[in-house]
Amino acid sequence: MSNPAPETPRRFRVHHLRRAKERGEPLTMLTAYDAVTARVFDEAGVDLLLVGDSVGDNMLAHDSTIPVTVDEMVVATRAVARVTRRAMVVADLPFGSYEASPAQCHATAVRLVKEAGAHAVKFEGGTHLAGHVELLTRSGIPVVGHLGFTPQSENILGGKRVQGRGEEAADRLVADALALADAGAVAVVLEMVPAPVADRVTEVLPVPTIGIGAGNGCDGQVLVWTDMAGMGSWSPRFARRYAELGAALGAATRQYVQDVRARAFPGPEHTYDS
Ligand code: KIV
Repeated sequence: MSNPAPETPRRFRVHHLRRAKERGEPLTMLTAYDAVTARVFDEAGVDLLLVGDSVGDNMLAHDSTIPVTVDEMVVATRAVARVTRRAMVVADLPFGSYEASPAQCHATAVRLVKEAGAHAVKFEGGTHLAGHVELLTRSGIPVVGHLGFTPQSENILGGKRVQGRGEEAADRLVADALALADAGAVAVVLEMVPAPVADRVTEVLPVPTIGIGAGNGCDGQVLVWTDMAGMGSWSPRFARRYAELGAALGAATRQYVQDVRARAFPGPEHTYDS
């Protein structure tokens, strides 16, 4: 008898976000930019895969996320969405592709959902983008907000700096988060925010907060996968390195080079005799 086909896992969807918050079950999110890693993360049980515009500084050798284009996001999102069976795929709207108007935001989001297969989109900003969130939500596109340190605005924020420090800034962050949730956002990412401020937002928000450098009180956590897996020599303070994949890959590559040069590879088992 042949083996039964492997069961397709149930897709993680927007109602699971709310349910996780209600039950106090922490959400897991990781960035992914290609099919190879997306398949690994999906099979490992990550709830949400973020095709982040951090593809710019992590994969495309830019200094920041700012140069990333919509076309680049479409290519990366399509690769991730094609192999993902369970995780919700969230695609970032890159700098310059949504800020000008709800209509511009809608046009970009439609490309990522329709051409690339994203299940939701994420963009950076607060109260002033509530109309954008509202239009996308009404159009059937779930939106994840992004507050705190917003990398696309690093030029105006004066670099990578913790946001929401001080009473006034904290109040503004809470108001922004509430405005996004009122407009229909299904979750809000909080990046580089003091833990007590993130806790305040998490307490008042009806939808989950997903933290990155925002302490352990958020409803979920997100990391850039290369930081999580130790691909580079440096990771930000808020990331834990769960592996040293960069070093392991370097060692494997050095061994391969050595074997080829010594004619130790390919061996007979890798060779067609006829
Ligand atoms: O693009 C990205 O990786 C992100 C995370 C930092 C949340 O937006």
